[in-house]
Formats: sequence, structure tokens, C-alpha cells
Amino acid sequence: MEFKDFQIGGLHIALPIIQGGMGVRVSTSSLASAVSNEGALGVIAAVALGEGQDGTEQDYRERSSESLKESIRETRALTKNPFGVNIMCALTNYDDLVGVAQDESVDVIISGAGLPLKLPSLVKNIKTKLIPIVSSARAANIICSMWQRKHKRLPDAVIVEGPLAGGHLGYSREELADKENFSLDNILQKVIAVVRGFETNVKKIPVIAAGGIFDGKDIARVIRLGAGAVQMATRFVCTDECDVAPEYKQAYLTAEKEDIVIIQSPVGLPGRVIRNEFVKKITQGERMDFGCKYRCLATCDPKKVNYCIAKALISASRGLMDKGFAMCGSNAYRIKSIVSVKQLITELVNDTREKLGDASMVF
Ligand SMILES: Cc1cc2nc3c(=O)[nH]c(=O)nc-3n(C[C@H](O)[C@H](O)[C@H](O)COP(=O)(O)O)c2cc1C
Repeated sequence: MEFKDFQIGGLHIALPIIQGGMGVRVSTSSLASAVSNEGALGVIAAVALGEGQDGTEQDYRERSSESLKESIRETRALTKNPFGVNIMCALTNYDDLVGVAQDESVDVIISGAGLPLKLPSLVKNIKTKLIPIVSSARAANIICSMWQRKHKRLPDAVIVEGPLAGGHLGYSREELADKENFSLDNILQKVIAVVRGFETNVKKIPVIAAGGIFDGKDIARVIRLGAGAVQMATRFVCTDECDVAPEYKQAYLTAEKEDIVIIQSPVGLPGRVIRNEFVKKITQGERMDFGCKYRCLATCDPKKVNYCIAKALISASRGLMDKGFAMCGSNAYRIKSIVSVKQLITELVNDTREKLGDASMVF
């Protein structure tokens, strides 16, 4: 079995690895370009880029769009290879951000945290490939059927994000506890079966597995199950090129398995994070001091939540871990050192090739 290049709607990616988008300000141009330069697909996260300065909601929206534009241009200056932008459906300025990504002709838009049902109506440019993130075969079916019926377009690939992923999760707490039925492998196979039903001789839709994929053994396992590629995020946090403050990376390096916990996020979904004093306080219901000027999330009611997730994540990305927390996948505690993106990707490719018994890729 081969671990080889793949196509996203005709766009050639040399290695079947996507670096998952990580907000807020975790996957920026520095990480995304380094990943793309190694032949995988680097991804910038578009969430809350305009957050953290004063002004009106309109100012926030303009700043967010402008920052995304700058980030795309910076990435383009740093790599000649394709890269993507991750835009969460739950954002109130979703349409603006998709508009910026389209105007800048980004290669790929990846969209989850809700069903990106209107994404094709916002992107007329077929150069920009569209990849929804799903948590179930049902969601994959709804998206493919609706895109086909209403927009005469199908996804160029589909990412299945399983319950072990980092960040926000498309599963209830009960589903997360039901490890047998809600395993990535199970859901992946069901999504592949649905997506195959929409493919034609000319339209292929690779299904990309995400969530808890840590090493070559994991990659080989999902490739054998029919995944066309993997999306990995957590492992890319502890790289030299990831822009977060050293304190954020340190939280990963010192985390024990039991420190990785699920919280209820103001996004309206459970989220996986590294427990610290701030997490203990918000879990106990303590109300943090915050004002909401911008309503960045459509799904957040600032009157009901006890902290602002944008503020918490920005603080953490700057190293202020007493004012926020790091999001992470379930395997973050296994990371023991900070490496370069090149080292990480080389290790993943060689390990996968060995596990697949594939001599085709020589690094
Ligand atoms: C720090 C962090 C931030 C994330 N932010 C986003 C985000 O902004 N949008 C999104 O769709 N997914 C986000 N994710 C999910 C990842 O893109 C990815 O699909 C998932 O974490 C894969 O699992 P892994 O981390 O175990 O490899 C985030 C994950 C992490 C670890």
C-alpha cells in the first residue's frame, strides 16, 4: 500500500497530510508556509484575527478581514506551494472572511464547527477548493446532497474529525463517552461509504481522517481504511515554526494524560483543552471579567457564558496562561519535545511508509 500524493479537486498536494487550522493565532503564516514548503498542506486559521483592540463591531470586522488578507499574502510570500484557510461556520463574520479568501484566490477553504451549507454560494471561483469538516456520515450526506442540489457543486474533499481531535468537537458528551460506536475508524468508514455514492468517474472526493492521529502507525491505519489523507493539528503546535508563545508549547510538554479535559465552550460545543487554574475556575462556574464588543460567535450568548473564549485563547497564544488555556487533541501529552516542521514531517512520512511496507517514498 502506498503513502502518496493526492488531489483535492485537481489541486496536487505532494504529501497526504493537512495541518489542521488552529485558532486563535496558533496556525498563522509561519506554520502554514513551513508545512506547505515540505509538500503537505499548511492551513491558516481565520478565527478572531481582529480581536483584542478597541472599537466598534464594524471596526472588528474590518480588522479581521484585513488581518486575514495580510496573513494570506504573508503565507504566499513564504511558499510557492498550495495552502488553505480554515473558517469556522460559527463566526458572525463568516461571509466576510470567505469573501476575503475568495478574493485572494486561496487554494483551499476548510470549514467546520457547524454545517457549511452556504459555502458554495459564497465562492464562485472554482480555483478555490472547498472542504467541509464533518463528524458523522449524516452530516456528510446532508452537505453533499444540498451542495449538489442547490449549488451544482460537490465538496472537493471531506474531512472527518473524530472524537479525539483538538479544539471544538462535533459530539455530545455522551457520544464522546461511547468510545466504541464513536471511534474515528467507525465514523470514517461510514463517511467514506456515503461520499463514494456522490463520486463519478470524473469527480473524486478524498475523505481525510482527523482527530488523535499521532504517528505513522495511526496514519497507516486510516489509509488502510480508505482515507485519502490525514489532517493533524496537535503535533504541529510543538514545532519551531508555530507562532504561539513558549508558555503555550510548555503547557503541551508538561501535560499529563489526565490534564487533557473536555470543557463546554461558548461556541456551543464541547472543546478539548489542557487543564490549568483558569480552566478549573471556569469549570466551577466562576465568572471572568469580560465585555463583549464584537459578538464574534453567532452561537455565543455573552449574557449566559462565564468567560470570553476569544479573549482566553488570545491570552494563551501570547503566553498569559493564567488568563486562558491551550486547546489540544487527546494525544498532546505524548509530545515530549519541540522539533522543526521538517523533522516532524520527515518522521511521519518515514514511519508511515515503514508501517505500510511502502518503499515508494524515499526521504
Ligand atoms: C490549538 C487548536 C486549535 C484549533 N482550532 C481550530 C479552528 O480554529 N478551526 C477548526 O476547524 N479546527 C480547529 N482545531 C481542530 C484541528 O484543525 C484538527 O482538525 C484537529 O485538532 C485534529 O486532531 P489532532 O489535533 O489530534 O491532530 C484546533 C485544534 C487545536 C489543537
